Amino acid sequence: MNIGGTLIAGPAGQPLNGEIRVPGDKSMSHRAVMLASLADGVTEIHGFLPGEDNLSTAQMFVDMGVAIDWLNAEKTSLRVHGVGLHGLKEPAKVLDAGNSGTCVRLMTGVLAGQLFHSVLVGDASLHKRPMQRVADPVRKMGAHVDGREGGNKLPLAIRGRKLAAIHHVSEVASAQVKSCVLLAGLFADGVTRVTEPKPTRDHTERMLPLFGQPVEVAADGTISLTPTDRLTAPKEPVHIPADPSSATFFAVAASLVAGSDVTLAAIGTNPRRDGWRRIMAGMGTRLETAKENRVGKETVADVRVTAGGLHGLVVDPQDVPDAIDEFPVLFVAAALADGEFVLEGAEELRVKESDRIAAMAAALREAGADIDERSDGVRIRGIKSLKGGIEVDAHGDHRIAMAMAVAAQRATGDIRIRNAAAIATSFPDFVALAQSLGMNVRWEEAA
Ligand code: S3P
Repeated sequence: MNIGGTLIAGPAGQPLNGEIRVPGDKSMSHRAVMLASLADGVTEIHGFLPGEDNLSTAQMFVDMGVAIDWLNAEKTSLRVHGVGLHGLKEPAKVLDAGNSGTCVRLMTGVLAGQLFHSVLVGDASLHKRPMQRVADPVRKMGAHVDGREGGNKLPLAIRGRKLAAIHHVSEVASAQVKSCVLLAGLFADGVTRVTEPKPTRDHTERMLPLFGQPVEVAADGTISLTPTDRLTAPKEPVHIPADPSSATFFAVAASLVAGSDVTLAAIGTNPRRDGWRRIMAGMGTRLETAKENRVGKETVADVRVTAGGLHGLVVDPQDVPDAIDEFPVLFVAAALADGEFVLEGAEELRVKESDRIAAMAAALREAGADIDERSDGVRIRGIKSLKGGIEVDAHGDHRIAMAMAVAAQRATGDIRIRNAAAIATSFPDFVALAQSLGMNVRWEEAA
């Protein structure tokens, strides 16, 4: 686990100002490298997120014989020499997903369809997270999956084979589960279908057609994939929009610090990722949208946030999957809003990189916030400012660390955020970009 690394964040001494472009979308970066590796031909990808999570995915394909040329030192552009659907080689070592749930769960789908053995491992946090949700459907398709707790916990040993198509009716609203089954469906003998309890991010469905693989979505939301035998590298490079989940940290910071005016350039506005804007708008945040555009099959826009607004809200249960990664920082907004904020139906937050309900409740309470933990959410009554001179634990979870750095901008003194090194999994440049807007945050120098 990403234990260690301490952030020192404190009250913003000035309004936050400027226009920034946050790094590429994490979810799309995983999918782009996976589909490019499984395609015939060479795919160029730009706007890739060079976070540890995405580099884990890229490394897995290298470990299975895919050549990847990095086109710049920052690792945001790459050329993937696809080996075709049946061209991966049995890896000589265990495949390490690090901290990344998306990597391990989507790769379970890919590996289920390979005619070889593989073993998936990760860090201590990933070894605690549930895998039954992906082990079960790929077993039904014919793959062998073994692991601790009957295949619910890593390490997972997978013996793939030619798969049988299934209709998977998922109990959990999870794009990772849906994508695992669709990726396995590329190796199946018929039409693979997935029905979800609520719609989730649809990047897999939007990206597969770029590689020549159609996907159909029925009126009831059921997704079907009829495998076409091959994926083909797109002639045009794949461009990845800026990650709305990274942008939300700055949107909340701008809404909280008096006089702020921040523009988040060209961020993804896919409706299945846009719950944060609906929730913040519902809380009275001033958000303006400009330069709406398309990038591949995705939409992007510039979003300008100015300080002010922020009252409580009862979150619409329909918005929960669409803001699932943004709740830690939305709790910070709620802690400083007028009135009460209520979130229910978000039990999935307990099985993310940390138990995000418990971790945020503990950290915000330490800072004086009025927050009740529920099994599936929180109830928060806003106060005027948070306490400084305290220390909190990010539990090796990138989003807890960044959310608490935002909280500190409205604290009465510094907040030390322990175990924050995991920021490198999704947003290696967070501190530099935050400082460029005027946020008060820095890494504590090692003793
Ligand atoms: C992701 C899906 C979400 C999200 C994760 C990325 C993806 O997880 O929390 O950060 O890229 O498919 P679930 O699908 O498990 O909710």
